[in-house]
Amino acid sequence: MRREYDAIVERLITKATRDTDLDGRDDILALMLQSRYDDGSEMSHREIADQLLTLLTAGHETTATTLAWAIERLRRHPAVLDRLVEEADAGGSTQREATILEVQRTRPVIDLVGRQVKAESCHLGRWTLPKGYTVLVSIDLVHDAESVFPNARAFDPSRFLGARPDLYQWIPFGGGTRRCLGAAFANMEMNVILRTILRAVTLLPTKERDERWHSRGVANAPAKGGRAVVHRRTARVARAGREHQCELPGSPAAP
Ligand code: HEM
Repeated sequence: MRREYDAIVERLITKATRDTDLDGRDDILALMLQSRYDDGSEMSHREIADQLLTLLTAGHETTATTLAWAIERLRRHPAVLDRLVEEADAGGSTQREATILEVQRTRPVIDLVGRQVKAESCHLGRWTLPKGYTVLVSIDLVHDAESVFPNARAFDPSRFLGARPDLYQWIPFGGGTRRCLGAAFANMEMNVILRTILRAVTLLPTKERDERWHSRGVANAPAKGGRAVVHRRTARVARAGREHQCELPGSPAAP
């Protein structure tokens, strides 16, 4: 699979390097082909392939799947949805940011994070773990613990309003020194995309049962894909939304 993947990336690189407008492009492949190390050297094709693989498997799949869950959750919680639409039209983002945190708490797309004991032994609570043992942390069980999140089964974004999550309790991105390096980027991306969706279309609520989990290999997705019935919003509403653009740190110009 890796050989097939490398061959695809090699074809894309060949095509891109022949592009006479390469320096006018802003896609990630074009940016990497033009980037230089401090000593002026280029990234090798292998390095570019590795970076793209990270973006695709670690970055794209996880973020897209979390957004699918956001749609699935919002359609089943019309009061939350209404608040988000109102806020997006007014140019705010506080409720939306809290909602994304709650989607990630209640529907973490990655099940587990693992660590191996490298020291002679490691003390964890009442256990002593010998060298070489692997410890798996269940993200879902931590997020579902009443002692950590009261009323844990409820979908309640207000628990994150005005409060940043404790990063050893809210762990959809893992934790510690190996915590996901794309976390801030992913949350910014989800925020922009969700805002765009809320402004562009009316998401129809549903009384259908909650979707089940379905493993897509990397991430756990809504079994029916989080499909939604949407209606395009009127030009008047969309215009009003554009007049109240909210700026996100480091975000590109809002669509
Ligand atoms: C909602 C989106 C995402 C979720 C839920 C997610 C989740 C995770 C998790 C659970 C880990 C393991 C952390 C640990 O062991 O403690 C991880 C690691 C990682 N993620 Fe993400 N991730 C997301 C987005 C991204 C993005 C956008 C990128 C890149 C742009 C990215 C790149 C990485 C990398 C490179 C690692 C390995 C870090 C290391 O081992 O030091 N992730 N991610």
